[in-house]
Formats: sequence, C-alpha cells, structure tokens
Amino acid sequence: MKKILAFMLSLAMVLSLAACSSGTGTETTAAPETTAAAEETTAAAEETTAAAEETTAAAGETEATGDVDTSAAQGMTVGVCIYKFDDNFMTLYRQELQSYLESEYGANVTIVDGKGDQAEQTNQVQNFITQGVDVLILNLVQASSTEVVANMCKEAGIPAVFINREPDEAEIQRWTDEGIAATYVGADARQSGTFQGEIILETENKGDFNGDGVVSYAMIMGDPENIDAQYRTEYSIKALEDGGMKVEKLFEQRGDWDQTKGQELAANALTQYGDKLEVIFCNNDAMANGAKVAIEAAGRVVGEDIYLVGVDALDETVGYVAEGTVTGTVLNDHVGQSHTAADVAAQMVSGQPVETKYTVDYVKVTQDTASEMAAE
Ligand code: GAL
Repeated sequence: MKKILAFMLSLAMVLSLAACSSGTGTETTAAPETTAAAEETTAAAEETTAAAEETTAAAGETEATGDVDTSAAQGMTVGVCIYKFDDNFMTLYRQELQSYLESEYGANVTIVDGKGDQAEQTNQVQNFITQGVDVLILNLVQASSTEVVANMCKEAGIPAVFINREPDEAEIQRWTDEGIAATYVGADARQSGTFQGEIILETENKGDFNGDGVVSYAMIMGDPENIDAQYRTEYSIKALEDGGMKVEKLFEQRGDWDQTKGQELAANALTQYGDKLEVIFCNNDAMANGAKVAIEAAGRVVGEDIYLVGVDALDETVGYVAEGTVTGTVLNDHVGQSHTAADVAAQMVSGQPVETKYTVDYVKVTQDTASEMAAE
C-alpha cells in the first residue's frame, strides 16, 4: 500500500511553485522540495491537476524553494503542537513531519498533544515560547484561536507556521498588514469536496440508484468548526448539482473525524432511511471506514445499491477502494504538506521571506486508479 501512495504522490506532482522572492502575501501551490521528495519516492509522472495548473499560473513567478539558503536552519529547535494525537490523518502527518525535519534539517523536534483542548494547547504554546524554540508549527484545536496564538508568537519574536486548520482570510491578511511572521500551509478543502462529488458523478447512475432523478444522501461531517468539514460538506454537493443532479439531504451529523462515530452515524442513517439512502459522504476516511462496516452490517452493497466516499486516502481505505467496498477517496497529501511546512519553517528561521499561504493539491482516487496503482 505504501507503493500505492507513492505512486499517487507522483500524480500529485503539482508542486511546482514556491515563494515569490518579494514575499508579498500571495498564495502558492506547494513547494518544490515536495516535488523533489515525491521524485525520490518514485520515478514518476509529471501530471498536474487542472486546479494546480490554474493556481500555479495565477501565482505567476516561480522560484525553487530548494534554491533558498536555509543553512542557518540546520539544528533548529522546533515546537510542534498537534490538535490531538488520536487522529489517523494527523498521526501520519506528524510522523512524516518529524522524520523530515530531522533528516533534512537535523532539527531538534518536540511534538505535543493538544488533546482537543484549546486552553491546554495555548499553555503548550506558551511553554515552547518560554523554552525559546526557533520556530513553531501549529495545528490548532480551534482555527478561531489563530489570532491570539499568532500574537503570542509575534510578541516572542518566534515565527509561526500554521498547518491543517485554515485560519480565515482576514487573519491571514492581518499577518501581511501587521508584519507578523506567520504563514499557513494546507490544502484547499473545496477541491477535496468537489472531487468527492465528481467521483459520484462518474458512476454509472450518478448516484441515483432508484432512478427517481434525485440523489438522496447522508453527510457525515468532521468537526464543523473546521473549514475542511464545512467546505467538503458544501462542495461535494455543489459538484453534484453543477453536474446536473438534483439532491436530497436525508441526514447530516457531525462525527468529528472519528471512525467509531462514523460507524454509529451511518448505522443510524441506514436504519432511518433504508433503501432510500443512495450515497454516504464522509468528510474523511476514518469515518468512511466506520460507515463501510455499518453498510455491510445493514446488508447493503457498495457499488450495487449504495455509494460511499471519504477523503485522506488512508492505506486501509485505498485498499477498500481497490476492492470496491468504498467507492472512492481523495488523497490528502500529508507528505507534501508536512514537507512544505518544514521547508517554510526553515526559511523563516533563516530569515528568508515567505508567502502567507501555501496549498498542496488533493488527488482523486477511484477504483481504476487505486487498482492500477496496486498493480504497479
Ligand atoms: C483533515 C483530515 C481529517 C482530520 C482533520 C483534522 O484535513 O482530512 O482526517 O485529520 O484534517 O483537522
């Protein structure tokens, strides 16, 4: 399965562009080191998604982050705050982040568990500030606390790289306006939602098993405070509608990115709506893995009388997609994102200018792609 992800990363070689040397707060699509890393992982394709091309084109100038002198960052001390350790995707992310920071930069890395509690995490940030780390990499419990945390870092003169939970545009703009050494590295969750909707549109009946002209669906959401959950919920359905389908929302509840909750909620939706339920959208794969169990327990069959989609491309879920027991998923590139976060942190520690936002593209995963990759 590692191979599958490696291949998919090669497809995600969208990562062509980094900072304009002026450092004027524009958005960019990922960092060249990520591309280099992907190239190392696999000898591969040079495909880019249309979305990436657009972003790259719009962003204009290209400069290899790899050309930037980050020698001053060798041996840097890095404090990393993760919103909670008990999260499948963020576990892959933090493990990759730590090993890359250590191998590329000889960094001294400490990672702490926010346990889903913003007050506790704010204390952890304060502790890192007191210790005098060179840079902070922050996956906040609540994106709405970004302003407070960015101000704490500014006061202490420590650069901050916010990851995974995107702050609002006004806050990102404030960093430029007030000269705050902060940046955001993540992915555009609208793209992942759109890909989920497109996966359903690409099926034979476009999600309409009973032929009544309407896709009747259940939405199992992540933490609704998180923009990833909001955008995936909105854009998956928007893609269906843009593709000409009528939709009916039967069920929508929060499962907080959690497999057990995903299973419980899917079981409830299946009991409540029976055969009327045609598609289950899950905002992430952990919840989709749970929903898969509930679907099988209800005697339903993915691909025959119901569809199921997730996001993240966890190894386990890619395996299910390959065998057809999950309809599709979307690669949330934790390797690209963590490497970009580390590279940008190193640039900041080296006093190099950076952008205020870096995004790494998502990649659609369907049975064809997953199986093809499995055969590699
Ligand atoms: C999302 C990811 C979820 C969860 C969440 C945490 O990007 O898809 O699985 O990890 O981040 O904020």
